[in-house]
Amino acid sequence: MKGAYLLTVAILALAASIAFAYDPSPLQDFCVAIDDPKQALFVNGKFCKNPKLVKAEDFFFRGLNIPGNTNNPVGSNVTTVNVDTLPGLNTLGISFVRIDYAPYGENPPHTHPRATEILVVVEGTLYVGFVTSNQKDGSNLLFTKVLNKGDVFVFPIGLIHFQANVGKTPAVAFASLSSQNPGVITIANAVFGAKPPINPNVLAKAFRLDEKIVVKLQKQFWTSN
Ligand SMILES: *[C@@H]1O[C@H](CO)[C@@H](O)[C@H](O)[C@H]1NC(C)=O
Repeated sequence: MKGAYLLTVAILALAASIAFAYDPSPLQDFCVAIDDPKQALFVNGKFCKNPKLVKAEDFFFRGLNIPGNTNNPVGSNVTTVNVDTLPGLNTLGISFVRIDYAPYGENPPHTHPRATEILVVVEGTLYVGFVTSNQKDGSNLLFTKVLNKGDVFVFPIGLIHFQANVGKTPAVAFASLSSQNPGVITIANAVFGAKPPINPNVLAKAFRLDEKIVVKLQKQFWTSN
């Protein structure tokens, strides 16, 4: 009996380690995330809550009807529903966001290192796009579209993408991402707002900029959303 248990644990551990590049595929109906290992039964992604203690609330999130505050330098706000705010998402390979855009606000160029994103516009008009990885000839191709209410667009995993509100009214979009924890790298913040700062010399060469401009950019207040 004990041997069978150990074998199961070993197989689960192996399965989890093989699947590390993406969220592991679920090996059971659900695996509600829990921080206290004492209340956990086994490990797969985050600890799994003992199924006997699981409640409907573990699969529930309230509040995506409430707009985020877009009063910030970029004029957008992302409300995230991921494994940290909805523990039942653990190991299921999916999450969700609401994005609010002030008139002419934008969700600046960023990538999700672990997820593809599918977005639907429910209010307003967005100019959206993504850029490919470096092509054989060294170029990076831009794919863009203007989206209206009801339009859907996909941003492939890992690629730099953005959405900008090109209308005079606020815009709202919802999106699903193919990871319980997609991660976000906002390009400008990561490059110019890194702590401690990247040597300005390095950035001056990379961006073909005067070092003074780089230093000035590094002194900006970088908000992340
Ligand atoms: C987004 O909106 C929430 C809720 O209004 C607010 O607490 C948060 O500070 C906002 N984030 C940014 C980056 O403005």
